Amino acid sequence: MNKSHLNTKEFLWIAVIFWSASFTAMEAPFSFVFQTKIQNWQLFTDAFISVLFIADLMYHLREKQKHQKKLDIGPQNKKYSLTVMLIVDVVSCVPFDILSYYLGHQDFFMAFRLLRMIRIIKIFYLIENITIVPRIFKMQSIMVGFLIVVNWIACGWIFIYPMPIQSDVTSYYIRSFYWALTTLTTIGYGDITPNNNIGRIFTCFIMIIGVGMYGIVIGNISRMLASADRHKEQTREKINDLILFMKHYKVPENLQTAAINHYGHLYSKRLSDDDEKIIADLPHALQAEMQIYMKIKLIGNIPVFSGCSPECLKEISIHLEQIFSSPGDLIIKIGEMGDEMFVIAHGVVDVYLENGERIASLHDGQIFGEVALVKETKRTANVQSQTYCDLYKLTKKSFSEITLKYPSLLKNIETTTQRRKSESNRS
Ligand code: CMP
Repeated sequence: MNKSHLNTKEFLWIAVIFWSASFTAMEAPFSFVFQTKIQNWQLFTDAFISVLFIADLMYHLREKQKHQKKLDIGPQNKKYSLTVMLIVDVVSCVPFDILSYYLGHQDFFMAFRLLRMIRIIKIFYLIENITIVPRIFKMQSIMVGFLIVVNWIACGWIFIYPMPIQSDVTSYYIRSFYWALTTLTTIGYGDITPNNNIGRIFTCFIMIIGVGMYGIVIGNISRMLASADRHKEQTREKINDLILFMKHYKVPENLQTAAINHYGHLYSKRLSDDDEKIIADLPHALQAEMQIYMKIKLIGNIPVFSGCSPECLKEISIHLEQIFSSPGDLIIKIGEMGDEMFVIAHGVVDVYLENGERIASLHDGQIFGEVALVKETKRTANVQSQTYCDLYKLTKKSFSEITLKYPSLLKNIETTTQRRKSESNRS
C-alpha cells in the first residue's frame, strides 16, 4: 500500500491482519518448543487466517494493478524484491497446520507458517511511513510487537532448557515468560539463571537487545501520551485565559457562555481555533483548494444551497469572500442599493424595519441581503450584527453569473424570500 494516509476501513482491515499474524507469531514457537499435538481449534483458526490472508493478498494485487504502469518502469532490483515478496505472501496464505495434520512433518510446516510474521514487519513499516496513524492502533501494535518478542525469547529459553517431565506446560511457560520479561527489561531478579554456556550466551544476547528494545517501546509510548496532552493543554489554557479576560471586563453572562461553548466545541473536536494558521504553510494552490473545500462544506449544509450540484457549489465557493462583523455593526442599510448578499457562517444578525421594529433574527447557515439582488430593488430592511459574526459575501456580479448558469438556485432563493415574507406577515 503506497499511501501516506489511510481511511478507517483500511485501518480496521490492517488491524485484523495484524492480529491474525500476531496470533501465529505467538502460537507457532509455543507449539514448536512444547511439541503440542495439533488440536481442532488450531485447524479452524489456521483455515480462518488463511482465508483472511488470501483476501488481503487479492486486495493488494488489485491495488498494485492500479499502479501497474509505475511498476513497469521501476528499477530491475525493485521488481525482483516485489516478486520475492509476492511469493512469500502467497506461501503465507497456505494453511500449513491443516497440511501437517494430514501429512505429518509438523516442524517442517511450522517453519513455513512463520512466514506469516512477515506481514507484521510489513505493517510496522507501513505505520512508520504513514503520517497519521490512530493512537490506539499505534499503541496496540507496539504492545503486541513487544509481547511477540518476549514470547519468542521465552520459547528460546524453553528450547535451550526443555520442560522437565514433572512440570506442566502452563507453569513452565509462565516461568520462562517471566524470565524473558525480567531479562529484557533489565530488571533481572536473578531467581532464574542460566547454568551452562549456551544459556549464558543466549542471556547476554537478550540483555543487549533488551536495552535498545525497552528504550524504543517506552520512548514511543511516552511520546504518544505527551502529544495527546499537548493539544488539550493548549486549549485548556486558552479557555482559562478567556474566562479571566471576560471576568475582568464583566462580559455579560450569555456572551461568556457562547465564547466558552465555542472553545468547548473545538476542544471536543480537537480542532484549532485558527483555521487560517493551520493551512498557512501549505503551498498557495493547495491553500486555495482547501479554502474552497471548506466553503463548499459550509454552504453545502445550508438549506437554500442544498439542491445545488457539486459544480454549482464549487462556483459559489470560489466567489465567496470571508468578512467579519462586530456586535452593533450595521451591515445593510434600508433604502440603499444592494451590491452583495451574505451567508452567516457563525453568529447572529437582527433584521429591523425603518421604525426600529425587529422582524427577524438570523443565525448560522442562513442568508440575507438577497432581496435587493433578486428583485433589483433597494434594501428592504436594516441588518445589524447582534454578536461577532463570520460572514461570507457574494457580489451582485457573481450572483447574476451563477444564477444565470444555475437557474434552480435563483428559484430556491426566491422561495426562501417568499417564506420569510409570509412568516413575518403572519406574526
Ligand atoms: P435585502 O432587502 O437585500 O436587505 C435586507 C435583508 O433583510 C433582505 O434582503 C433580507 O435578506 C432580510 N429580510 C428582510 N425581511 C426579512 C424577514 N421578514 N425575515 C428575514 N429576513 C428578512
